[in-house]
Amino acid sequence: MNFPATRLRRLRSTAAMRSLVRETHLEPSALIYPLFVCEGEGVRREISSMPGVFNLSIDEIVKEAEACAALGIGGLLLFGIPSKKDETGTGAYATDGVTQRAIRTIKASVKTESLVTIADVCLCEYTSHGHCGIVNRDGEHYEVENDSSVALLAKTAVSLAEAGADIVAPSDMMDGRIAAMREALDDAGKTNTPIMSYASKFASAFYGPFREAADSAPQFGDRRTYQMDGANLREAMREIEQDIAEGCDMLLMKPAMPYLDVIHEARQRFDLPMGAYQVSGEYSMLHAAFQRGWLEPERAMLESLLSIRRAGADFIVTYFAKDAAKVLG
Ligand code: PBG
Repeated sequence: MNFPATRLRRLRSTAAMRSLVRETHLEPSALIYPLFVCEGEGVRREISSMPGVFNLSIDEIVKEAEACAALGIGGLLLFGIPSKKDETGTGAYATDGVTQRAIRTIKASVKTESLVTIADVCLCEYTSHGHCGIVNRDGEHYEVENDSSVALLAKTAVSLAEAGADIVAPSDMMDGRIAAMREALDDAGKTNTPIMSYASKFASAFYGPFREAADSAPQFGDRRTYQMDGANLREAMREIEQDIAEGCDMLLMKPAMPYLDVIHEARQRFDLPMGAYQVSGEYSMLHAAFQRGWLEPERAMLESLLSIRRAGADFIVTYFAKDAAKVLG
């Protein structure tokens, strides 16, 4: 039966009717809020390209964690900004590193039963050259070494788990890191710490503002020899297969909005819990339009998050987590 018997508008007639037939839902518990932790006390330094996002000292991070718990947000994703960087990213796996201390403090002083504390695992915020692994330089030529980087990343994961992270989330894109991390975590007695792999991570221009926030822009070259080419959906599926075979527990897809087809395809193929990261550039782009009055903030924010859920993500890492949770109540 077709028109005039079938009238799809019947189910759009009132807010109650629309609510009843809504297919996709957003809940605060499916949102994860990224936090950038820096040294000092009382530090709240706004990122110029990310309105409402700050570098925060540990005492300020605690306040944020409390606010997130009160809003019913599902989790925190922590990034560390050390005061000193070096060639091998020592700060990433230091027992008293800034992220390790932040996690210990959150765990000790915030009621976090409803909040999952996730630690990003990468070296780029901690290396002086800004690459995600160990760099081997020979004059003009340089190489980001895979296997030596994996060893340090595994060490970082253990150190973050020992500090109390509920989940470790490797975002470096080295080959073989998941197997190495699983083994290292198990050897350290952290058999119950899940690994959320940024399995499908593209070399994206949309990470630009994050690199200001985390002070992690590569000092030379770019990340194209380790992060994926934006043209490749099939290769993304191979990355995911590989990480599942190596033992990851959850997947994180990144960026989100420019790669919704990749998220959708991953949802069709794989049954692991899967999140997507609405990255810094996606946030900044929307905020730039809000500032000019070109888009309605609340509606555009919720629509962007809904698109990511509809594509198949179970949860979303987003700088809008608090704003969205306030609206969603
Ligand atoms: C670390 C890392 C990055 C992001 C998350 N983890 C930066 C990068 O790969 O350059 C980007 C997050 C964002 O843009 O919001 N490797």
